[in-house]
Amino acid sequence: MIKILLIEDDPKLKDKVTFLLEGIVGAVISTVTDFKAAAKTLTEHPDINLIVADYRSGNGKDVEVFQKLAVFIDTVVCVDDLSDAGATEGWNLTEKVERKSLATNLKQVIEKIAEKLESSEKLKFCRIKTSILLETSPLHADIYAKLSDVKYLKIFLQGDVFDKDDFKKYTEQKKIEYMYLREDSCQLFIHKYVYQIDEFIKNHQPPTPEQMSNMNMVAYESVQELTNVLGFNKDVQQLAKSHVQMTVQFMDKKPNLSRLLAKLKTQKGKYLADHSYLLSYIACGISTHLQWGSDTTFFKLSLASFLHDVAITDDKLAACNTIADAKSLGIGEKEMNLFRNHPTIAGDMVRKMSEIPPDVDAIISQHHELPDGKGFPRAIGANYISPLSTVFIVAHDMVRHIFFPPPEGFDLSTYLAGAQERFQHSNFRRVLTAAKKLDMPANE
Ligand SMILES: [Fe+2]
Ligand SMILES: [Fe+2]
Repeated sequence: MIKILLIEDDPKLKDKVTFLLEGIVGAVISTVTDFKAAAKTLTEHPDINLIVADYRSGNGKDVEVFQKLAVFIDTVVCVDDLSDAGATEGWNLTEKVERKSLATNLKQVIEKIAEKLESSEKLKFCRIKTSILLETSPLHADIYAKLSDVKYLKIFLQGDVFDKDDFKKYTEQKKIEYMYLREDSCQLFIHKYVYQIDEFIKNHQPPTPEQMSNMNMVAYESVQELTNVLGFNKDVQQLAKSHVQMTVQFMDKKPNLSRLLAKLKTQKGKYLADHSYLLSYIACGISTHLQWGSDTTFFKLSLASFLHDVAITDDKLAACNTIADAKSLGIGEKEMNLFRNHPTIAGDMVRKMSEIPPDVDAIISQHHELPDGKGFPRAIGANYISPLSTVFIVAHDMVRHIFFPPPEGFDLSTYLAGAQERFQHSNFRRVLTAAKKLDMPANE
């Protein structure tokens, strides 16, 4: 369906042109005779997607005000002379039509535009963090800004360079945190991004800690969004694997958690990405102190950290540790089911990944199980929880306490004392003893 706003100030033509446009299949027409009325209609009907402007008079100010309102809307302007550039000034011009051929041409021109609009509305778009454009530019893909749920505006053509000035302009001045790629150009974007990560690894060129946490945020959100749009296909899997490989290669295996936490606090990111990042460090730190510190173990724990909540997109839901926590959010049955099953969904996804060590799926599907059998989704109890899952469960619990500390602040020994009560099983005790050695000063 195409919603057209017709501005026709010639009373003799008003009904005729309206009638002409009504002949377009699927068109809904609103007709006004001046710009004040046009502005009112546009405000009341923000879903109007085409303007046809045929005016000869009008207070210049009213025209300007309206043009600003309509800056992102395709417009067909009717003119006396096609070569008169002044007649179309200020419009988001899609086409101009000569008045003398209005009766024969206008309908055809609009039918073509309607066809294009309809096909672009069917296209899926994928959201990417604006900052990643700096790393992947130039991309052989058009880049869009989102105007509404169905409308995207192309702002960079394929091959355009996106530089630091563009980054400043769009993120600082226009506050555009995300840009969009068409579904069919996502593969290209992923390949470029993976290449970038592989270069870091190959050149043994560790990113700065700021770069690392930013890259984590970008990779996390990209994998989640791409999974939503494309499914967890081979390219998306490769992106997740490459990112985790880089994290493992450059991470401090005995991390100074206070420094890391300070960084996360100033960065103020999103819980989903941040908790997965911290989780990876804590889980690997604990496994180092358990003398399980091999690269394979680090990779397993880090990949599990990165993907364990991939089925959840809501930060509040991700911050829930138990079914009761999720229920207290007052969410509907559909979301509740998603929460209950998110460990299984993510575990099944990871099981399909090629060339990854075994056990990662088990860690993920067990990440909300508890030693007393009161966890979910399977309530399996300590004897059935794998050793690496035990590390992961404790690390995950600790991360939640760090992000949601008691009023007096997070304190490792106070936390561990409480955890001893909750995790009463020898396997978990062993993990808690190792966690004591983490480098995290009291009252962080
Ligand atoms: Fe989680
Ligand atoms: Fe979870």
